[in-house]
Amino acid sequence: MANDAPIGIFDSGVGGLTVARALANLLPRENFIYFGDTAHLPYGEKSAEAITSYSLAIGDFLMSKGAKALVIACNSASAVAFEAMQEKFGHLVPVFNVIDPVVDATLAHGHKKIGVIGTRATVLSGAYKSRLQKNDATVTVNSLATPLLVPVIEEGLAQSNISNDVLAHYLNKPELAGVSSLILGCTHYPILHNKIEEYLKNRVAVIDSPLIVAETISQVLAAKHLLATKKWGKHIFYVSDYTETFEQIARQFFGNDLRLQEQTL
Ligand code: DGL
Repeated sequence: MANDAPIGIFDSGVGGLTVARALANLLPRENFIYFGDTAHLPYGEKSAEAITSYSLAIGDFLMSKGAKALVIACNSASAVAFEAMQEKFGHLVPVFNVIDPVVDATLAHGHKKIGVIGTRATVLSGAYKSRLQKNDATVTVNSLATPLLVPVIEEGLAQSNISNDVLAHYLNKPELAGVSSLILGCTHYPILHNKIEEYLKNRVAVIDSPLIVAETISQVLAAKHLLATKKWGKHIFYVSDYTETFEQIARQFFGNDLRLQEQTL
């Protein structure tokens, strides 16, 4: 396996760019192939079967491009499709999900009253709750599906008053009362991290995945002697349905020379 082969990363849309950005910061030599499955967005409203079949098709595509690792930069797909991805590709390349590293980091920080917000698919899967409580039976986990946040972000409205109203609607719900930490269980939500923190008046520790996941990937690739050696850092971005909003947000993350390529699977 060539060290300088790209890391394959995917999400339904712009959310996984938060993970890709953290990875690019931490590992500037790595090359990425990013796939945003905009034709099927939002994953959070799809069945586990549909999300799994999209994920496997994207995995095939990224492997056909020579990926040396696969990153499921989507909580919904990590929650319902990780086992299938691991089974199909795990003997060929390391496969990463975004949930396990966050579970480990949350418990390592000693958080006990944990809130989780995420898509319907993630919350209904119970993935965070079961994995947190499997490792520490003393923690309480309250989860809330917050499905309006992804469309607000995908519409480029993260910094608008609309996102304030949507956040207020969710963050006041009784499900989240009394939590001392809040996991942002969707890779889109770090785009709203500061607003969420402000809204909670810094009383609640807000935990999101990009840096935590990037550190895990970096450690595993280093242990497997798979880190890039050359000074490249070239990234290629595919979407299954071209949208201008995706291109604009992707450029905010990766610079104005970024070009999106449309690829139907
Ligand atoms: N960013 C994804 C996640 O972490 C998917 C959001 C969606 O498409 O619903 O769940």
